Amino acid sequence: MTERPTVFSGMQPSGDLHLGNLLGALRPWVLEQHLFHNYFCVVDLHALTVPQDPLALAAKTRELAALYIASGIDPDSSTLLVQSHVSEHSELAWILGCFTPMGWLERMTQYKDKTRHSAQERISSGLFTYPVLMAADILLYRTNFVTVGEDQRQHLELTRNLATRFNHLMGDVFVIPEPRIGQLGGGARVMSLEDPASKMSKSDDSDWGVIALLDPPDRIRAKFRRAKTDSGSSVDMEAPSPGVANLLDIYRALTGCSQDALTSEFQGIGYGQLKDKVADQVIAALEPIQRRYRDLTADPVGLDAILARGAEAARGVASATLREVRSRIGLLPPSGSGPL
Ligand code: TRP
Repeated sequence: MTERPTVFSGMQPSGDLHLGNLLGALRPWVLEQHLFHNYFCVVDLHALTVPQDPLALAAKTRELAALYIASGIDPDSSTLLVQSHVSEHSELAWILGCFTPMGWLERMTQYKDKTRHSAQERISSGLFTYPVLMAADILLYRTNFVTVGEDQRQHLELTRNLATRFNHLMGDVFVIPEPRIGQLGGGARVMSLEDPASKMSKSDDSDWGVIALLDPPDRIRAKFRRAKTDSGSSVDMEAPSPGVANLLDIYRALTGCSQDALTSEFQGIGYGQLKDKVADQVIAALEPIQRRYRDLTADPVGLDAILARGAEAARGVASATLREVRSRIGLLPPSGSGPL
């Protein structure tokens, strides 16, 4: 049997995971899980680039790991790890940082967007070097594909350039990863229910636009009832407004129904009914996820054991890559670790 290609993906344990994360990222990961050798990472070190409350960070890290599993990631066939449990991530990030021109980081649009309105004194240097740590995450596992959203394309390009540069200077060590961005029909782009012109986002000011994966059913229904549509009152499938189109997209992503089926279901029906039907689907889809989540978090020791196993499996691969990197660049091996 030929080796399956390696996929690496990660999310930060900050904010609440929402329907956009599920339909845009988690579900595509789960659906393709059997095709790849997978690493799914909770990137807690990346979360540190902005101030975090320590207790909340630890709780969010467990929560995200539990939500990965509850959404269908199988920790027996995929490697599920917490980034900080594998110290090789930090070590490789330091080394790669020394091979990263400042100009490459200065060009990162996400950094520029995030810092545009902040005083220099309030921005951590970790936020600036964020993409280097991300490159380390990816390169440690000889990753072939990285499944990320469009917003991460530039970071991935930096990873590729950095790996190519390192290989050129120090000899081939790294596999050059390819992005997998929106490859699956299921990788839906879910918009805010309040402002359908912008993506559903953890950092939204108000949570009315965001369906959190752990929202109780009555809250989900209330949010859909308030969802922005337009001044009309019934669905026009020929030219739905952005708010209506978003509701239809959510319905389609959850049911997998065809455009024809969607049209016959919704053409001409009232917005109130549309919202209820979409809310029903969302509630039904989240119910088993929430149930599994509750089971997993009722047993924190069991969950931590899963994470310990994931870290150990990851460390095996990461430490081999790092050993090779260290030797290429002339770091003296610690005594007892054998010849260079
Ligand atoms: N930067 C990614 C995001 O915000 C998270 C991330 C960190 C990541 N390391 C990664 C994603 C490695 C993919 C691969 O979405």
